[in-house]
Amino acid sequence: MCGIFGYVGKKTNAAEIVLAGLKRLEYRGYDSWGVAAVSKNKIFVKKKIGKIGSATVEDLPASTLALGHTRWATHGGVTDQNAHPHADCSGTIALIHNGIFENYEEYKVKLLKLGHRFTSDTDTEVIVHLIEEYAQSMPLTDAVEKAFKAMHGLNAIIVLSTKLDTFIAIRNGSPLVLGFSGGENFLASDPAALLPHTKTVYFLGDNEMAIVGSKTAKIRNIQTGKTVRAQKQTLTWDIHQAEKGNYRDFMSKEIHEQSGIIADIAASGTGLAQRIAAHIKKTPHLYLVGCGSASYAAIAGEYLFSKIAGRHANIAIGSEFGYHLDFLTRQSVVIAISQSGETMDILESVKKAKAKGAQIYALVNVLGSTLYREATEKILIGAGPEKSVASTKALTGMLSQLTLLAYALAGKPEEGTLVLTLAAKSVKTVLEKTQDSAIRKLAGKLKHVQHIYTIGRGLSYPAALEAAMKIKEISYIHAEGLAAGELKHGPLALVTRGTPCIAFLPDDETYGANLAGAMEMKARGGFVIGVSHKPHEVFDEYINVQDAGPATIIPNVVVAQLLAYYLTLARGLDPDMPRNLAKSVTVK
Ligand code: G6P
Repeated sequence: MCGIFGYVGKKTNAAEIVLAGLKRLEYRGYDSWGVAAVSKNKIFVKKKIGKIGSATVEDLPASTLALGHTRWATHGGVTDQNAHPHADCSGTIALIHNGIFENYEEYKVKLLKLGHRFTSDTDTEVIVHLIEEYAQSMPLTDAVEKAFKAMHGLNAIIVLSTKLDTFIAIRNGSPLVLGFSGGENFLASDPAALLPHTKTVYFLGDNEMAIVGSKTAKIRNIQTGKTVRAQKQTLTWDIHQAEKGNYRDFMSKEIHEQSGIIADIAASGTGLAQRIAAHIKKTPHLYLVGCGSASYAAIAGEYLFSKIAGRHANIAIGSEFGYHLDFLTRQSVVIAISQSGETMDILESVKKAKAKGAQIYALVNVLGSTLYREATEKILIGAGPEKSVASTKALTGMLSQLTLLAYALAGKPEEGTLVLTLAAKSVKTVLEKTQDSAIRKLAGKLKHVQHIYTIGRGLSYPAALEAAMKIKEISYIHAEGLAAGELKHGPLALVTRGTPCIAFLPDDETYGANLAGAMEMKARGGFVIGVSHKPHEVFDEYINVQDAGPATIIPNVVVAQLLAYYLTLARGLDPDMPRNLAKSVTVK
């Protein structure tokens, strides 16, 4: 949450470089944006509410040192004043922040008494005044360190000063990655934003403070006081993967990449899945944990493991995992599933599980992310950078990897490859013109409805949950995903003439019972949209999905993505940046 980008180097258009970096990070927060640049011993700040759009920073002076921020508001409303960067009273220190300064009130009261003047309602502004206060009696770097140590919560800050030709950055919990490129250095909250400049990066660890100039980056752990030698990593992503190309938006690009990604995962071999399966076999307690779409991957994983390998797994939503800890032991294995590897609810779960001695395995998309580093075993999802706030290819990537793992657990790894290859083909068919336009047409019919219900059983239950999530988060139509059997236990009361119901009916043991759910809807006037391998008279609309065995959940999810996407376009909304949300949720 919140995008951070910084540049220091020989180029004099630092503010423009930073603004371009912020555009690449805007999915992290888009309530407001701001840039600060140092020039001739002064700091110049431009900040505005809303998305960056076609805004420029041409009015900022030439500079070789600048930083910027895109905000997802926590403390203080969405106003120009509350946008970052924030400056101290003298205007010689500027700061951007990601996280929450939990005990800011106590310091704000003290600083007000000392005569500091505040211009915003944010917790962030308190940090910069605290640094200003401490800097009266110590060097600025010490003041930054002291202020950071006073802060409770999980935070990342970057500080600029007219007195320095470097940034001072510190993180604890919130992500920060340094990018190195001969004679110029960068800082960002997400590695994908660094791709136009460099692939050589260092992910700052917790409590590491970096003093970054154009040619140097000095890193020190503020808890131990020890110097840290940056173990640089090379990003494996390509710049084109992080660009829209000819697509209208990132969501359509990412939806269309899926058959290729799934085919690649199928072709990548089963060695890793077999090695991890061998470890999992030994554990008495297996947990699958995720948030949002990744939590639906966890539910699907539970079904896949039990159906294919006869292996039980416990599932938990990241933010709820803390209430499931009693049975964790040193023998437990927790598979933490996350696209970004930075979701705070997941990282907190991992911390708690580790404290109980459990082993952490990560199913994660971002190499070098915090979750990646915390885990003993890592499976990279391999979906490439995902930029649309609503997850698409990362989820189908997670489902693909879990399918391989389930077959490896069952001792039939080749069957996993086969099933995934079928899923990749089935996804390709969904994305072909005829299917695509049928789904677009359907979206045109549904664009004014108030509610949509989605139903499924077994592996189609998480598909139904994901379909409802995609619809509500980007089209803002209320949607509810249900286990089909639950209809009669309450939700049927809401069905009236024309209520749309999407029923997932793959060719598996759930077909008959799922159909019964669709019929219950129909009998009460519901408008039934069947997503299945064959048509049925109960369907008012039919979307064909070719069977891919237990991996049919993958093309089913893709149908849901396309429908949500076209509903969003039909309602004139932005699919990439839905209101009130952000991609990487780094607060609790
Ligand atoms: C946010 C995103 C969702 C995503 C969830 C978990 O809410 O908008 O699309 O599923 O975070 O993110 P993660 O990076 O942990 O998979």
